Amino acid sequence: MSRQAYVNGRFVPHGQAVVHIEDRGYQLADGVYEVWAVFDGKLADSEGHFARLERSLNELRIRQPMSRKALEVVLRETLRRNRVREGLLYLQVTRGTARRDHAFPSADTAPSVVVTAKSLDREASNAKAEAGIGVITLPENRWGRCDIKTVGLLPNVLAKQAARERGAGEAWFVDDIGLVTEGASSNAWILDQDGVLRTRDTNANILRGVTRNTLLDVIAGAGIKVEERPFTPDEARAAREAFITGAGTLVTPVIAIDGKPVADGKPGEVALRLRELYIRHAQNAGI
Ligand code: PDD
Repeated sequence: MSRQAYVNGRFVPHGQAVVHIEDRGYQLADGVYEVWAVFDGKLADSEGHFARLERSLNELRIRQPMSRKALEVVLRETLRRNRVREGLLYLQVTRGTARRDHAFPSADTAPSVVVTAKSLDREASNAKAEAGIGVITLPENRWGRCDIKTVGLLPNVLAKQAARERGAGEAWFVDDIGLVTEGASSNAWILDQDGVLRTRDTNANILRGVTRNTLLDVIAGAGIKVEERPFTPDEARAAREAFITGAGTLVTPVIAIDGKPVADGKPGEVALRLRELYIRHAQNAGI
């Protein structure tokens, strides 16, 4: 069966899945999105992603397009039609289609909803993650509401491209006092020299990663000490380990920062153990 996408109430062949040229997501980046990891055909961390979606929509005063229950049916049907067992599910909601005007369109404008799903070779992505990645650092240059998961991702796009051009897998933004905020599409962590896991607190201008949040619970269960406290790139290089978390990368070790090794330059054992624990948790708790 060929790929299908959900677009505003209908499933259509992926190649013919289009939105109107005056969709506000397309013209103004006036929309939000969510990405779920899929394990064994089930949505990982579904509650966390739904809750963040609803929050993002509320913060931007975009109408909830449908009830959570109805949306769940659409997401599940997208997985079913695309036969995705291991992969990623993408949902985008914009303020809808209306004649171009920066201010909101009339209140009866229906939000646009798009859902796509893609399969992943889990073994291959595990092998890739287990090898670890390099990150580069860049000055933070995003807006002040990175807690909202909007489709306005230009700084993230440019950062990721810069990483790719320098042979790295992720870019870390660094704020004006030298502390890492987060990655272009992930949260940043270290296991510091004292053996404490550290990730930046969410009072900062970062996305409240769902994977990050679940991992904090998993870590508490594993009895490892954790602090929500930021770190500098130098601290990360001097740390025992560094890693990133996100629905796409799950838990992935960072082995170099700006071309210089983290610790001995090998993927961290704790990070790999946390990856396993996270995956096991996601497999058991998915819906
Ligand atoms: N990105 N920070 C940023 C800027 C992100 O874009 C993401 C996720 C995260 C991690 O959040 P979560 O654990 O909820 O996936 C942190 C998704 C995967 C993406 O843009 O594809």
